[in-house]
Formats: sequence, structure tokens, C-alpha cells
Amino acid sequence: MIIKPKYKGFICLTAHPEGCYKNVEDFAKLATSKPLDEDNAPKNVLVLGGSTGYGLASRITATFAAKANTMSVAFERPSTGKRTATTGYYNDAAVTKLAKLHGLNDVSLNGDAFSDEMKAEVIKAWNKAYPGEKIDLVVYSLASPKRKDPKDGELYSSVIKPVGEAYTNKTVDFHSGVVTDVTIEPAAGEEVDATIKVMGGEDWKLWIDALLGADLLSDDVITVAYSYIGPEITHAIYKDGTIGLAKNHLLATSELLNDELSKKGGRAFVSVNKALVTQSSAAIPVVPLYISLLYKVMKEDGSHEDTLDQMLRLFHDKLYSDINDVRDLNNPIRIDDLEMEDEIQAKVDALWKTANSDNIEEISDLVGYRKEFFSLFGFGRDDVDYELDVEEF
Ligand SMILES: NC(=O)c1ccc[n+]([C@@H]2O[C@H](COP(=O)([O-])OP(=O)(O)OC[C@H]3O[C@@H](n4cnc5c(N)ncnc54)[C@H](O)[C@@H]3O)[C@@H](O)[C@H]2O)c1
Repeated sequence: MIIKPKYKGFICLTAHPEGCYKNVEDFAKLATSKPLDEDNAPKNVLVLGGSTGYGLASRITATFAAKANTMSVAFERPSTGKRTATTGYYNDAAVTKLAKLHGLNDVSLNGDAFSDEMKAEVIKAWNKAYPGEKIDLVVYSLASPKRKDPKDGELYSSVIKPVGEAYTNKTVDFHSGVVTDVTIEPAAGEEVDATIKVMGGEDWKLWIDALLGADLLSDDVITVAYSYIGPEITHAIYKDGTIGLAKNHLLATSELLNDELSKKGGRAFVSVNKALVTQSSAAIPVVPLYISLLYKVMKEDGSHEDTLDQMLRLFHDKLYSDINDVRDLNNPIRIDDLEMEDEIQAKVDALWKTANSDNIEEISDLVGYRKEFFSLFGFGRDDVDYELDVEEF
């Protein structure tokens, strides 16, 4: 089959196995070139949501920069013979294969991380793959539209909506470059609760409880989950919206977990990361326009980072820094500092005010946004021949 991008809005229905492999290979090379100090690096790492985006970058940092034993859980679909697999499925295979080639250890598990069954499967698989080894870093990087509560089987759906009142702002169709005003009606009360159920900290705590119960966590374990704050222009839809309330719950959970884990020397954090193109962020209205303006400003400033740059900085400068003791770190950790600099934000703000369909290609990095979006699915690489028939996919 000749595999081309097939997309609908912010969803790409196809993925290219060779392109995904090469993407992971590039990340692995870069991570290998930035090793962590052996005495101050995680040894055994579990990444929940390690197949794409920030979770994938965390896992690649752990595997190739820290040389840790890694295990990832993700929810991905294999190919069906007519349809390609999801990009995360190919990424999973690529990390495990590249780890093996470098004499390192990585295991990919595929299934619903919210379920009790997957928690039991991970405990079993960990003991089998890494017998006697305790996990010293748990990364929680799930981003999902739905969660089935394992207690009562109820299915909750998250929504990305403002809370209290309707919100109107500019948004862009990143394929066509058409800038329009979008109005998003406020969430109903039960939608707020459901979003907190899906994207808050309840499942993170269930994971830590399950791993503690199985005696799989080291005394000095670190656990980190990811969040976003962003500038004023996105507050109504993000920080003060349904997703922001879920992230507040995540932060409150980190404090609860920290109280528990710190008794033996462990720590729990939320890390506030930079806005970047991922499958999840592409789905949030208004955010793609903000990201395309931000990319333009940060690339010109020379301070742009991708998911791997961010995770390398999180590991090197924060969690496993030679300068600061992790126990002295404030929670939340901020690695969105460069994005949030006043000068950067003032420039983005000025561009935001003038952005329209006529000038968007010129004043923003929409070209870079599109390229990165398709690159998430393995497309747009110069070293892959996309006209070639792919026999195994
Ligand atoms: N993208 C951004 O700009 C940004 C910025 C700051 C923080 N974050 C946060 O980072 C985290 C990860 O987001 P991302 O943007 O990397 O998303 P992503 O869509 O690239 O990754 C989501 C991951 O979760 C996994 N997943 C989803 N549902 C699952 C399930 N039921 N069981 C197992 N795995 C499941 C997917 O397989 C994938 O590995 C989120 O908490 C997000 O809020 C993202």
C-alpha cells in the first residue's frame, strides 16, 4: 500500500511506519548525545502514555539519555490489513526495537491504562521483564477524551469548554489558513465533573496506590504528571476552562501523593510544559493559532523547543540536576518559562491582535505547524520515499 496522509480536521487517519521509525530514531540519537550523569539518573521508569507527544519524549529521554529500563502503556491500534496502525503503535515498536539495538531495555504495553486489568498487567509484566528492580520514576502523560471508571464501569467524556460564560476568540483552520471567530458555549456542571474524572488526578493516584501495593516503587521514587497554564488569551478555554479545572485536580493530587511518598524519601510533581503540536493540543480550539504565532516568535528568538528538548531539560535541569536537589524543587515545576517570558508573550499578543486570513501565513509559523502536525504521523520527511509501496504496515 502507498501510504499518504488522510486527514479530517485535527485527526490524521493514517500513519507511515518508516516515517515514525525515523522520527523516533532522530529523537533517540539526540537523547543519546545528551546523557545524564550515571549517579543521578533514573534506573527504572514507567511511562503512562509513552507512545506519542510528551510521554514519548519522556520515555526516549529515560531510555536513551538515562539508559534506564523502561516500560510504557499506551492506547494504540494495530493495522488491520486495510488500515495503517496508529502513529503511537509504530512509535512503540520503534522505541523497543531501537532500545534493543543499543543494548537497552524497553517494553511497550497496549491497552486501557484507566482499567484495573492494565494495572495488574503492568505489575506482572514489570516483574517478568525487570525482576527485583523497583521503579524510581513514574511519568503520567495520559491525554484522553474518555475514561471508564474501573469501580462502577461508568464512561466519562472530557470536554474542552469555558466555565461560567461563553468565550469568543479567533481560531485558525491550520490546513486552509482561514482565521475565524469561534464562540464556545460554557460547560454544563456535569461536563466539568466528567472532565475532572478523565483528565484530573484520580487515575494517577490509583496507579501509585497499585504500584505501592505491589511493592514496586523505590523509596526515593519520583512521579511527575504534565500540565499547561499558558497566557491570558487562552485562559478562558484552558486554564480557567474545564481542562484547567482538571489540571487543578491533578496538582492537588500531586500534593497528596507527595505527602505520602515523601515519608520514605519520594516526591510527586506536576510539570508545567510548553504548548506544542501534539494530537491532543491540535484538538483544542484557539490553541493552534496561538501555537503557530508562538512558534514564529520563539523560532526567531532562538528559544523554540520541541517535546524532546523540553523533556531533556526537565530531566537534566530539574529532576536529576547536579546543581539542585530534587527535594528542594518547588511544585509545580515550570519548564514553560521560555514560552511565558514577557517579551515573547508581548510579541505573540501583538501578532494575535492583527491576525487574519490574509496575513496569517506571513505573520505566523503556520507552515511549521502543519509540517509538525503531519510529522507526528511520520509524514513530510525528506529521507522517506512516500511513493514506495509499503508491504508491511
Ligand atoms: N501538547 C501540549 O501542548 C501540552 C502542553 C503542556 C502539557 N501537556 C500535557 O501533557 C500530557 C500528554 O499530552 P500530549 O499532548 O503529549 O498528548 P498525546 O495525545 O500526544 O499523548 C497521549 C498519550 O496518552 C495515551 N493514552 C490515551 N488514552 C489512553 C488510555 N486509555 N490508556 C492508555 N494510554 C492512553 C496515548 O496512547 C498517548 O500515548 C497531558 O497531560 C497534556 O495535558 C501537553
